[in-house]
Amino acid sequence: MKIAIASDHGGMNIREELKQLMDEMNIAYEDFGCECATSVDYPDYALPVAEKVANGEYDRGILICGTGIGMSIAANKVKGIRCALVHDVFSAKATREHNDTNVLAMGERVIGPGLAREIARVWLETEFEGGRHANRVSKITNYEA
Ligand code: RB5
Repeated sequence: MKIAIASDHGGMNIREELKQLMDEMNIAYEDFGCECATSVDYPDYALPVAEKVANGEYDRGILICGTGIGMSIAANKVKGIRCALVHDVFSAKATREHNDTNVLAMGERVIGPGLAREIARVWLETEFEGGRHANRVSKITNYEA
């Protein structure tokens, strides 16, 4: 599995924490910034990552900003992206099992690095359940088409 990860200036610490986590989990990733000393615009980071996941270059994406909200709104504009804004471990598991989410968004001003790590670990490890959930996800995909 290959992950594309990015953050704006509001999510840089958690981005570093998650890179460490993926190193520990032996998961390949590429960091798409930001290298920001000043503030940047989150769509400039969310949209390229979402496009790389949508076109199959990367299997999944992780996006962090201050709240995670801007990143998730932007990522979900890209066709084929199912991005979940997650701040608890239960939802991290459920959104993989039920929604087959391919992008995870989190907010560094909302949760700490320990919880962010645990959320990302569970989200990375959990498989889609398929079955009745596949039928539901296909209704979203069909709507997009
Ligand atoms: C940046 O100040 C902040 O707006 C951004 O990180 C994010 O929270 C937007 O949704």
